[in-house]
This record gives sequence, C-alpha cells and structure tokens, in this order.
Amino acid sequence: MANGRVTGVRSIELGVRDLQQSAQFYSNVWALEEVASDAGTIHFRATGGEHHVLTIRECGKPALLGVHFAAEDRAAVDALCAKAKGYGVEVAGNPAALPASAGGGYGFRFKTPDGLPMSISCDLVAHPNVVLDRSRPSKISHVVLNSARTEEQVPFFADVLGFKLSDSTHMMEFLRCSADHHSVAIFRNNGPSLNHVAYELPNIDGLMRGTGRVKQSGFEIAWGIGRHGPGSNVFSYFIEPNGFVAEYTTELDQIDEATHVPMGPDYWNKVMPMPDRWGTAGAPSNHMRAAMSGALYLGEEGERCEDIIGRSLGVAAE
Ligand SMILES: [Fe+2]
Repeated sequence: MANGRVTGVRSIELGVRDLQQSAQFYSNVWALEEVASDAGTIHFRATGGEHHVLTIRECGKPALLGVHFAAEDRAAVDALCAKAKGYGVEVAGNPAALPASAGGGYGFRFKTPDGLPMSISCDLVAHPNVVLDRSRPSKISHVVLNSARTEEQVPFFADVLGFKLSDSTHMMEFLRCSADHHSVAIFRNNGPSLNHVAYELPNIDGLMRGTGRVKQSGFEIAWGIGRHGPGSNVFSYFIEPNGFVAEYTTELDQIDEATHVPMGPDYWNKVMPMPDRWGTAGAPSNHMRAAMSGALYLGEEGERCEDIIGRSLGVAAE
C-alpha cells in the first residue's frame, strides 16, 4: 500500500449561525486574526506560521465542516488519497489545487468511517511573521471527536492516516501524528460530532492571561482551569456563541518515540481518580458534558439532550 502520513492539524472549519457575531468572538475574545475572507466565509490565523487555523462559514445552523490535516508534500497527499480510497471511505475526488484565497496548496477532502468531513493538504502559504503574544493561541493543538463506533475510527486514523496510539482511557483514545501527545482523540460517546477544539497557548502565563481576557469578555470558564491526565496539558474550556466547545491548552506532553509506552484504562483509573491532576477543575457540569457531546451546537435539546448526557458515561477523563 502507498506510503504517506498526516503530520499535524492545520485548521478547523465550522458552520456558524451568524458570521459577524462569530467573527467578533474569534477576533476580539479568542484573539485570532482575520487573514482572508470572501462571501460568507472568514479565515483566521493564530500567532504561528499556519496560514489559517479556523474557517467560519455562515450556515443555517452550526456544523462541523472540516478538520484539515497537513502532509509533507504532494507525494504524501497522493499516497494518503490512494489509501483512503483503498480503505473504502468517501473521497471527494483526486487531490487538486486549493483556492489561493485560503492559502492555496494541494489537497483532497474525504470523510471518516463515521462520516465526518476532513481534508489533507500540503504546500499552503505560511506566514513568515510569528507574533510574540503569549496570551494568544499559536496553533490548533488537538481536535476531539465523539463516536459511537470508536472501534471503527481508531484503525482508520492509524492504518490510513498514520496516527499512533499515545494512551487509552475508558472514555477516550488519544492519537498522535507528531511529537504532540495527541492531535486527535476519539471520545466514546454519542456521535458522530465535534467534542471540542483545543488551541495552544505558548505557556501557562499565556493561558492564564488568555483565559482572563475571555472571562472579562463575558464568557465564564465552562471547565477548568486544570491539568489533564493523558497528555498532562493544562486546560481551560469555554462554550463559544454557536455552542461549540473551545479549549485553551498548554504544556501538552511531547512524545519520545524511542521510550513512550501507551498506557491503558486500568492504569489511568488507578493514577487519575480525580478528573484533573491538580484537583482544581472538579467534574464538568451536565451543561458542559452536553456541550462536549455536541448537543448544544447540534440543537439537540430536551429529552434528546438528557439521553446524550446519560450515555456520556460520567466524567470526561481526558
Ligand atoms: Fe482537549
């Protein structure tokens, strides 16, 4: 089978109810910077070199429109496309040139076995100027997806996209494609849906100052501040205006391929009886668990929402 693997998460693409309201949040509150726009669509960069880390598109209702991954070069993109086709998932055509208005490059779109939209690309324009403001996000750290069929998602990410398993809990499978402990995690839950998107801050001081900015803008911390078990990253979660869960995170473990040994649910149950290492965050509220289940952005309320909470198996143990 052809070679090629994903090397990171470039960006997330979200459908939003109100483009300007969402743009105001992501610019002024979340501290991304608008870098390109066209009718009904805005792309935002972070402080790192990636052309954009977030695309929002005005839709009738909030939706996950894409998780966009990077690959090394055209040969890797071609190889990944061939592998996806061979695996039998839905692939929307062969790799092709991408719109110059969104950084250009070369890539293709596909869907996971769960039907969530993704893409892989290379050769996008990168920003030469890296902004030195530690209170602002530098890149996408990781994306967590809900799935009722975890056992079908993990082999796809591993065998087709080249991810490796970093750790497993009774709730989640943590998958890496670089030194970052996880770039994708699959949450055993309802689904398919978006659990949350994490944006990396350069250090704890930056995370605290960024969290303060969001809080002073009128958004309460939905869960945190705490430090996770697997990955050991510091976290601060918010629910943004569309009902998506957005995380500020920092100090995610960097994996040494020569020495890392994935640990399983029994290990994590023993060493992590608390939902976070510091014991500061407590358990997420029912409202937060519903948001992480996708219920808020999907608009599934009332009994449906309660069903989702009931199936979420208690406390998130990321
Ligand atoms: Fe996270």
